[in-house]
Amino acid sequence: MKSLVLLLCLAQLWGCQSAPHITGMSFKEVACDDPEVEQVALVAVDYLNQHLLHGFKHILNQIDKVKMWNRRPFGVVYELEIDTLETTCHVLDPTPLANCSVRQLTEHAVEGDCDFHVLKQDGQFTVMHSQCHSNPDSAEDVHKVCPSCAILIPFNDTSVVHTVKAALDAFNAQNNGTYFKLVEISRAQNVPLPVSTFVEFVVAATDCTAQEVTDPAKCNLLAEKQYGFCKASLVQRLGGEEVSVACKVFQKQPQPASVNTAGPAPAGDQTETAALPAAPPASLVVGPMVVAVPPGPPAHRTHHDLRHAFSPVASVESASGEAVGSPKVVQPGTVGAAGPVAPLCPGRVRHFKI
Ligand SMILES: *[C@@H]1O[C@H](CO)[C@@H](O)[C@H](O)[C@H]1NC(C)=O
Ligand SMILES: *[C@@H]1O[C@H](CO)[C@@H](O)[C@H](O)[C@H]1NC(C)=O
Ligand SMILES: *[C@@H]1O[C@H](CO)[C@@H](O)[C@H](O)[C@H]1NC(C)=O
Repeated sequence: MKSLVLLLCLAQLWGCQSAPHITGMSFKEVACDDPEVEQVALVAVDYLNQHLLHGFKHILNQIDKVKMWNRRPFGVVYELEIDTLETTCHVLDPTPLANCSVRQLTEHAVEGDCDFHVLKQDGQFTVMHSQCHSNPDSAEDVHKVCPSCAILIPFNDTSVVHTVKAALDAFNAQNNGTYFKLVEISRAQNVPLPVSTFVEFVVAATDCTAQEVTDPAKCNLLAEKQYGFCKASLVQRLGGEEVSVACKVFQKQPQPASVNTAGPAPAGDQTETAALPAAPPASLVVGPMVVAVPPGPPAHRTHHDLRHAFSPVASVESASGEAVGSPKVVQPGTVGAAGPVAPLCPGRVRHFKI
Protein backbone atom coordinates (compact mmCIF):
# COMPACT_ATOMS: atom_id res chain seq x y z
CA MET A 1 0.00 0.00 0.00
CA LYS A 2 2.93 2.30 0.72
CA SER A 3 4.07 2.19 -2.89
CA LEU A 4 0.60 3.06 -4.01
CA VAL A 5 0.56 6.06 -1.73
CA LEU A 6 3.90 7.12 -3.08
CA LEU A 7 2.79 6.75 -6.66
CA LEU A 8 -0.32 8.73 -6.11
CA CYS A 9 1.66 11.39 -4.35
CA LEU A 10 4.09 11.60 -7.24
CA ALA A 11 1.23 11.86 -9.64
CA GLN A 12 -0.06 14.84 -7.77
CA LEU A 13 3.00 16.18 -6.07
CA TRP A 14 1.50 19.59 -5.81
CA GLY A 15 -1.54 18.27 -4.03
CA CYS A 16 0.46 16.14 -1.60
CA GLN A 17 3.06 18.68 -0.69
CA SER A 18 1.06 21.77 -0.29
CA ALA A 19 -2.40 20.55 0.47
CA PRO A 20 -2.78 22.61 3.62
CA HIS A 21 -2.19 25.80 1.68
CA ILE A 22 -4.25 25.20 -1.35
CA THR A 23 -7.19 23.28 0.03
CA GLY A 24 -8.49 26.59 1.22
CA MET A 25 -9.62 27.09 -2.33
CA SER A 26 -11.76 23.97 -2.34
CA PHE A 27 -12.98 24.24 1.21
CA LYS A 28 -16.73 24.67 1.46
CA GLU A 29 -18.98 25.60 4.30
CA VAL A 30 -22.01 23.40 4.48
CA ALA A 31 -24.94 23.41 6.83
CA CYS A 32 -24.88 20.70 9.48
CA ASP A 33 -28.47 19.82 8.63
CA ASP A 34 -27.86 19.61 4.91
CA PRO A 35 -29.45 16.32 3.75
CA GLU A 36 -26.20 15.10 2.24
CA VAL A 37 -24.32 15.86 5.45
CA GLU A 38 -26.92 13.93 7.36
CA GLN A 39 -26.44 11.01 5.00
CA VAL A 40 -22.71 11.11 5.65
CA ALA A 41 -23.32 11.25 9.40
CA LEU A 42 -25.57 8.20 9.18
CA VAL A 43 -22.87 6.31 7.29
CA ALA A 44 -20.43 7.30 10.04
CA VAL A 45 -22.73 6.12 12.83
CA ASP A 46 -23.31 2.89 10.99
CA TYR A 47 -19.56 2.42 10.67
CA LEU A 48 -19.20 3.05 14.38
CA ASN A 49 -21.84 0.45 15.24
CA GLN A 50 -20.28 -2.10 12.91
CA HIS A 51 -16.96 -1.73 14.66
CA LEU A 52 -18.20 -1.78 18.23
CA LEU A 53 -17.09 -4.83 20.15
CA HIS A 54 -18.69 -4.03 23.48
CA GLY A 55 -21.69 -2.26 24.88
CA PHE A 56 -24.57 -0.73 23.01
CA LYS A 57 -25.29 0.62 19.56
CA HIS A 58 -25.23 4.38 19.23
CA ILE A 59 -27.61 6.62 17.33
CA LEU A 60 -27.05 10.04 15.76
CA ASN A 61 -28.12 12.92 17.99
CA GLN A 62 -26.55 16.06 16.52
CA ILE A 63 -24.11 17.12 13.86
CA ASP A 64 -21.85 19.65 15.57
CA LYS A 65 -19.51 20.70 12.81
CA VAL A 66 -18.88 19.85 9.21
CA LYS A 67 -16.32 20.83 6.62
CA MET A 68 -16.25 19.73 3.06
CA TRP A 69 -13.10 19.49 0.93
CA ASN A 70 -12.63 18.67 -2.67
CA ARG A 71 -10.12 15.91 -2.92
CA ARG A 72 -7.82 15.69 -5.89
CA PRO A 73 -8.30 14.23 -8.33
CA PHE A 74 -11.81 13.09 -7.46
CA GLY A 75 -14.23 13.01 -4.62
CA VAL A 76 -15.24 15.06 -1.66
CA VAL A 77 -14.08 14.64 1.92
CA TYR A 78 -16.42 15.45 4.77
CA GLU A 79 -14.89 16.24 8.10
CA LEU A 80 -17.60 15.76 10.69
CA GLU A 81 -18.00 16.13 14.38
CA ILE A 82 -21.08 14.38 15.69
CA ASP A 83 -22.81 13.61 18.97
CA THR A 84 -24.43 10.26 19.51
CA LEU A 85 -26.53 8.68 22.23
CA GLU A 86 -26.49 5.13 23.52
CA THR A 87 -29.47 2.96 22.56
CA THR A 88 -30.86 -0.02 24.41
CA CYS A 89 -29.76 -2.47 21.69
CA HIS A 90 -26.57 -4.34 22.39
CA VAL A 91 -24.06 -4.34 19.52
CA LEU A 92 -24.61 -8.08 19.06
CA ASP A 93 -28.37 -7.59 18.81
CA PRO A 94 -29.45 -7.93 15.18
CA THR A 95 -32.31 -5.45 15.64
CA PRO A 96 -31.91 -2.65 13.07
CA LEU A 97 -30.78 0.63 14.59
CA ALA A 98 -34.01 2.32 13.51
CA ASN A 99 -35.89 -0.03 15.84
CA CYS A 100 -33.63 0.57 18.82
CA SER A 101 -34.76 3.03 21.44
CA VAL A 102 -32.56 5.75 22.83
CA ARG A 103 -31.47 5.33 26.43
CA GLN A 104 -33.37 8.09 28.24
CA LEU A 105 -32.06 10.55 30.82
CA THR A 106 -33.97 8.66 33.51
CA GLU A 107 -32.13 5.47 32.51
CA HIS A 108 -28.77 7.23 32.93
CA ALA A 109 -28.01 8.20 29.35
CA VAL A 110 -24.59 7.92 27.70
CA GLU A 111 -23.38 10.38 25.10
CA GLY A 112 -20.81 9.72 22.37
CA ASP A 113 -18.61 12.26 20.66
CA CYS A 114 -16.98 11.37 17.34
CA ASP A 115 -14.76 12.85 14.66
CA PHE A 116 -15.04 11.31 11.24
CA HIS A 117 -13.44 11.88 7.88
CA VAL A 118 -15.60 10.37 5.17
CA LEU A 119 -14.74 10.30 1.49
CA LYS A 120 -17.54 10.43 -1.02
CA GLN A 121 -16.54 9.31 -4.46
CA ASP A 122 -18.72 7.95 -7.24
CA GLY A 123 -21.65 7.88 -4.86
CA GLN A 124 -19.77 5.60 -2.46
CA PHE A 125 -18.81 6.51 1.08
CA THR A 126 -15.54 5.45 2.65
CA VAL A 127 -14.65 6.17 6.24
CA MET A 128 -11.01 7.26 6.28
CA HIS A 129 -10.63 8.32 9.87
CA SER A 130 -12.70 7.84 12.97
CA GLN A 131 -12.21 8.68 16.58
CA CYS A 132 -14.80 8.53 19.32
CA HIS A 133 -15.22 8.63 23.03
CA SER A 134 -18.24 8.56 25.28
CA ASN A 135 -19.36 9.66 28.71
CA PRO A 136 -22.34 8.88 30.88
CA ASP A 137 -24.43 11.72 32.18
CA SER A 138 -23.43 12.77 35.69
CA ALA A 139 -25.23 11.16 38.61
CA GLU A 140 -26.16 14.64 39.85
CA ASP A 141 -27.90 15.45 36.58
CA VAL A 142 -29.78 12.16 36.57
CA HIS A 143 -30.95 12.88 40.10
CA LYS A 144 -32.09 16.34 39.06
CA VAL A 145 -34.42 14.75 36.51
CA CYS A 146 -35.47 11.99 38.82
CA PRO A 147 -34.23 11.60 42.38
CA SER A 148 -35.08 7.91 42.62
CA CYS A 149 -33.52 6.78 39.36
CA ALA A 150 -30.89 4.07 39.27
CA ILE A 151 -27.32 5.25 38.70
CA LEU A 152 -24.53 3.56 36.77
CA ILE A 153 -22.03 1.73 38.96
CA PRO A 154 -18.72 0.01 38.13
CA PHE A 155 -18.80 -3.41 36.49
CA ASN A 156 -16.56 -4.85 39.18
CA ASP A 157 -18.71 -3.65 42.07
CA THR A 158 -19.33 -6.63 44.38
CA SER A 159 -23.10 -6.28 44.06
CA VAL A 160 -22.83 -6.32 40.27
CA VAL A 161 -20.68 -9.40 40.15
CA HIS A 162 -23.03 -11.09 42.59
CA THR A 163 -26.18 -10.10 40.67
CA VAL A 164 -24.80 -11.27 37.35
CA LYS A 165 -23.79 -14.62 38.82
CA ALA A 166 -27.17 -15.13 40.51
CA ALA A 167 -29.02 -14.14 37.33
CA LEU A 168 -26.93 -16.36 35.09
CA ASP A 169 -27.41 -19.30 37.46
CA ALA A 170 -31.15 -18.67 37.48
CA PHE A 171 -31.26 -18.45 33.70
CA ASN A 172 -29.27 -21.65 33.26
CA ALA A 173 -31.42 -23.43 35.83
CA GLN A 174 -34.60 -22.60 33.90
CA ASN A 175 -32.97 -23.76 30.78
CA ASN A 176 -32.81 -27.54 30.51
CA GLY A 177 -30.58 -27.39 27.52
CA THR A 178 -27.42 -25.57 26.67
CA TYR A 179 -25.29 -23.97 29.37
CA PHE A 180 -24.80 -20.25 28.71
CA LYS A 181 -21.70 -18.52 29.94
CA LEU A 182 -20.93 -14.86 30.68
CA VAL A 183 -19.26 -12.89 27.88
CA GLU A 184 -19.60 -9.28 28.97
CA ILE A 185 -21.21 -7.13 31.63
CA SER A 186 -22.70 -4.32 29.59
CA ARG A 187 -24.37 -2.08 32.13
CA ALA A 188 -24.92 -1.98 35.88
CA GLN A 189 -27.02 0.37 38.01
CA ASN A 190 -28.34 0.51 41.51
CA VAL A 191 -30.76 2.27 43.82
CA PRO A 192 -30.36 2.44 47.59
CA LEU A 193 -33.94 1.76 48.68
CA PRO A 194 -34.79 -1.04 48.63
CA VAL A 195 -31.21 -2.06 47.90
CA SER A 196 -31.44 -3.12 44.27
CA THR A 197 -28.96 -3.85 41.53
CA PHE A 198 -29.87 -3.85 37.85
CA VAL A 199 -27.56 -5.42 35.30
CA GLU A 200 -27.43 -6.04 31.57
CA PHE A 201 -25.01 -8.63 30.29
CA VAL A 202 -24.14 -10.85 27.34
CA VAL A 203 -24.01 -14.63 27.43
CA ALA A 204 -23.05 -17.22 24.85
CA ALA A 205 -24.04 -20.85 24.36
CA THR A 206 -21.42 -23.47 25.24
CA ASP A 207 -20.89 -27.15 24.53
CA CYS A 208 -22.01 -28.03 28.07
CA THR A 209 -25.46 -29.06 29.20
CA ALA A 210 -26.87 -26.70 31.80
CA GLN A 211 -27.73 -29.42 34.29
CA GLU A 212 -24.42 -31.20 34.11
CA VAL A 213 -21.97 -28.32 34.45
CA THR A 214 -19.45 -28.85 37.19
CA ASP A 215 -16.73 -26.47 36.03
CA PRO A 216 -17.92 -23.65 33.74
CA ALA A 217 -14.31 -22.92 32.79
CA LYS A 218 -14.29 -26.21 30.91
CA CYS A 219 -17.26 -25.25 28.77
CA ASN A 220 -16.34 -23.88 25.36
CA LEU A 221 -18.32 -21.54 23.18
CA LEU A 222 -19.87 -23.20 20.18
CA ALA A 223 -18.09 -22.81 16.85
CA GLU A 224 -21.32 -21.38 15.54
CA LYS A 225 -21.63 -18.56 18.06
CA GLN A 226 -24.92 -18.03 19.75
CA TYR A 227 -25.14 -14.96 21.92
CA GLY A 228 -27.86 -13.83 24.25
CA PHE A 229 -28.55 -10.54 25.97
CA CYS A 230 -29.91 -10.56 29.50
CA LYS A 231 -31.42 -8.01 31.83
CA ALA A 232 -31.64 -8.87 35.49
CA SER A 233 -32.29 -7.36 38.88
CA LEU A 234 -31.53 -8.37 42.40
CA VAL A 235 -33.51 -6.79 45.20
CA GLN A 236 -32.69 -7.22 48.88
CA ARG A 237 -35.88 -8.00 50.78
CA LEU A 238 -36.45 -8.90 54.37
CA GLY A 239 -36.97 -12.51 53.41
CA GLY A 240 -33.83 -12.63 51.25
CA GLU A 241 -32.76 -11.82 47.74
CA GLU A 242 -35.18 -11.62 44.89
CA VAL A 243 -33.59 -12.29 41.52
CA SER A 244 -35.29 -11.86 38.19
CA VAL A 245 -33.76 -12.34 34.80
CA ALA A 246 -34.91 -12.23 31.19
CA CYS A 247 -32.69 -13.13 28.27
CA LYS A 248 -33.11 -12.74 24.56
CA VAL A 249 -31.11 -15.35 22.68
CA PHE A 250 -30.07 -14.27 19.20
CA GLN A 251 -29.87 -16.40 16.10
CA LYS A 252 -26.75 -18.44 15.64
CA GLN A 253 -23.96 -16.77 13.75
CA PRO A 254 -22.00 -18.49 11.03
CA GLN A 255 -18.55 -19.78 11.89
CA PRO A 256 -15.85 -17.15 11.50
CA ALA A 257 -13.93 -19.37 9.06
CA SER A 258 -16.71 -19.29 6.49
CA VAL A 259 -17.13 -15.56 6.92
CA ASN A 260 -13.48 -14.78 6.41
CA THR A 261 -13.35 -16.47 3.02
CA ALA A 262 -15.08 -13.38 1.70
CA GLY A 263 -11.76 -11.60 2.11
CA PRO A 264 -11.30 -7.91 2.67
CA ALA A 265 -14.05 -5.72 1.39
CA PRO A 266 -13.14 -3.95 -1.83
CA ALA A 267 -12.33 -0.30 -1.51
CA GLY A 268 -15.29 1.98 -1.74
CA ASP A 269 -17.53 -0.80 -0.61
CA GLN A 270 -17.71 0.31 2.96
CA THR A 271 -21.07 1.91 2.67
CA GLU A 272 -23.88 1.27 5.08
CA THR A 273 -24.63 -2.13 3.73
CA ALA A 274 -21.06 -3.26 3.28
CA ALA A 275 -20.52 -3.85 6.81
CA LEU A 276 -18.96 -7.24 7.56
CA PRO A 277 -21.88 -8.37 9.70
CA ALA A 278 -19.98 -11.04 11.56
CA ALA A 279 -16.85 -9.03 12.26
CA PRO A 280 -17.52 -8.05 15.85
CA PRO A 281 -18.41 -11.56 17.03
CA ALA A 282 -15.54 -13.09 15.10
CA SER A 283 -13.03 -10.86 16.79
CA LEU A 284 -14.86 -10.98 20.07
CA VAL A 285 -14.00 -14.60 20.66
CA VAL A 286 -10.44 -15.55 20.03
CA GLY A 287 -10.36 -19.22 20.71
CA PRO A 288 -12.48 -20.93 23.31
CA MET A 289 -11.65 -18.60 26.19
CA VAL A 290 -14.29 -16.00 26.76
CA VAL A 291 -11.80 -13.93 28.70
CA ALA A 292 -9.77 -13.50 25.52
CA VAL A 293 -11.96 -10.59 24.51
CA PRO A 294 -9.73 -7.84 23.09
CA PRO A 295 -8.69 -5.09 25.48
CA GLY A 296 -11.95 -3.82 26.82
CA PRO A 297 -12.49 -1.15 29.38
CA PRO A 298 -10.91 -1.61 32.79
CA ALA A 299 -13.15 -3.46 35.22
CA HIS A 300 -13.89 -0.44 37.34
CA ARG A 301 -15.47 1.57 34.51
CA THR A 302 -19.17 2.21 34.54
CA HIS A 303 -19.67 1.98 30.80
CA HIS A 304 -17.99 0.73 27.63
CA ASP A 305 -16.23 3.84 26.35
CA LEU A 306 -16.35 4.35 22.59
CA ARG A 307 -12.68 5.23 22.89
CA HIS A 308 -12.06 1.50 22.75
CA ALA A 309 -14.41 0.97 19.84
CA PHE A 310 -11.99 0.84 16.98
CA SER A 311 -9.61 -2.07 17.13
CA PRO A 312 -6.20 -1.51 15.49
CA VAL A 313 -7.27 -3.88 12.73
CA ALA A 314 -10.32 -1.84 11.98
CA SER A 315 -8.43 1.40 11.65
CA VAL A 316 -5.81 -0.11 9.36
CA GLU A 317 -8.62 -1.55 7.29
CA SER A 318 -10.34 1.78 7.00
CA ALA A 319 -7.18 3.62 6.11
CA SER A 320 -5.94 1.17 3.49
CA GLY A 321 -6.55 1.77 -0.15
CA GLU A 322 -7.76 5.25 0.50
CA ALA A 323 -4.40 6.56 1.51
CA VAL A 324 -4.57 9.49 -0.88
CA GLY A 325 -7.27 10.82 1.28
CA SER A 326 -5.12 10.55 4.37
CA PRO A 327 -6.42 12.86 7.04
CA LYS A 328 -3.51 15.24 6.43
CA VAL A 329 -5.07 16.31 3.19
CA VAL A 330 -8.10 17.56 5.01
CA GLN A 331 -6.38 19.45 7.77
CA PRO A 332 -8.29 22.68 7.96
CA GLY A 333 -5.16 24.66 8.75
CA THR A 334 -5.86 28.35 8.89
CA VAL A 335 -8.22 28.62 6.01
CA GLY A 336 -11.20 29.49 8.17
CA ALA A 337 -11.59 32.76 6.33
CA ALA A 338 -13.89 30.97 3.90
CA GLY A 339 -17.03 32.44 5.35
CA PRO A 340 -19.33 32.68 8.33
CA VAL A 341 -19.91 29.40 10.17
CA ALA A 342 -22.20 30.33 12.99
CA PRO A 343 -25.67 30.10 11.46
CA LEU A 344 -25.05 26.79 9.70
CA CYS A 345 -23.91 24.68 12.64
CA PRO A 346 -24.43 22.97 14.98
CA GLY A 347 -27.43 21.17 13.54
CA ARG A 348 -30.63 20.18 15.21
CA VAL A 349 -30.83 17.95 18.27
CA ARG A 350 -32.69 14.76 17.36
CA HIS A 351 -33.28 13.46 20.86
CA PHE A 352 -32.04 15.44 23.87
CA LYS A 353 -28.86 17.02 25.13
CA ILE A 354 -27.02 15.75 28.15
C1 LIG B 1 -38.58 -2.42 12.77
O1 LIG B 1 -39.62 -1.46 12.63
C2 LIG B 1 -40.34 -1.60 11.43
C3 LIG B 1 -41.27 -0.41 11.30
O2 LIG B 1 -41.77 -0.02 12.56
C4 LIG B 1 -41.07 -2.93 11.46
O3 LIG B 1 -41.80 -3.10 10.27
C5 LIG B 1 -40.04 -4.04 11.58
O4 LIG B 1 -40.71 -5.29 11.70
C6 LIG B 1 -39.17 -3.83 12.81
N1 LIG B 1 -38.11 -4.80 12.79
C7 LIG B 1 -37.68 -5.42 13.89
C8 LIG B 1 -36.59 -6.42 13.72
O5 LIG B 1 -38.15 -5.19 14.98
C1 LIG C 1 -37.41 -28.26 31.72
O1 LIG C 1 -37.66 -29.16 32.76
C2 LIG C 1 -38.86 -28.88 33.47
C3 LIG C 1 -38.95 -29.80 34.66
O2 LIG C 1 -38.16 -30.92 34.51
C4 LIG C 1 -40.03 -29.09 32.49
O3 LIG C 1 -41.25 -28.80 33.15
C5 LIG C 1 -39.84 -28.14 31.33
O4 LIG C 1 -40.85 -28.37 30.36
C6 LIG C 1 -38.49 -28.31 30.67
N1 LIG C 1 -38.29 -27.27 29.71
C7 LIG C 1 -37.78 -27.47 28.51
C8 LIG C 1 -37.64 -26.29 27.65
O5 LIG C 1 -37.46 -28.57 28.11
C1 LIG D 1 -12.54 -2.44 40.82
O1 LIG D 1 -11.40 -2.19 40.03
C2 LIG D 1 -10.60 -1.12 40.51
C3 LIG D 1 -9.47 -0.90 39.52
O2 LIG D 1 -8.98 -2.09 39.05
C4 LIG D 1 -10.09 -1.45 41.92
O3 LIG D 1 -9.32 -0.38 42.40
C5 LIG D 1 -11.27 -1.70 42.82
O4 LIG D 1 -10.81 -2.08 44.11
C6 LIG D 1 -12.15 -2.78 42.26
N1 LIG D 1 -13.36 -2.90 43.08
C7 LIG D 1 -13.81 -4.06 43.52
C8 LIG D 1 -15.02 -4.00 44.38
O5 LIG D 1 -13.27 -5.12 43.26
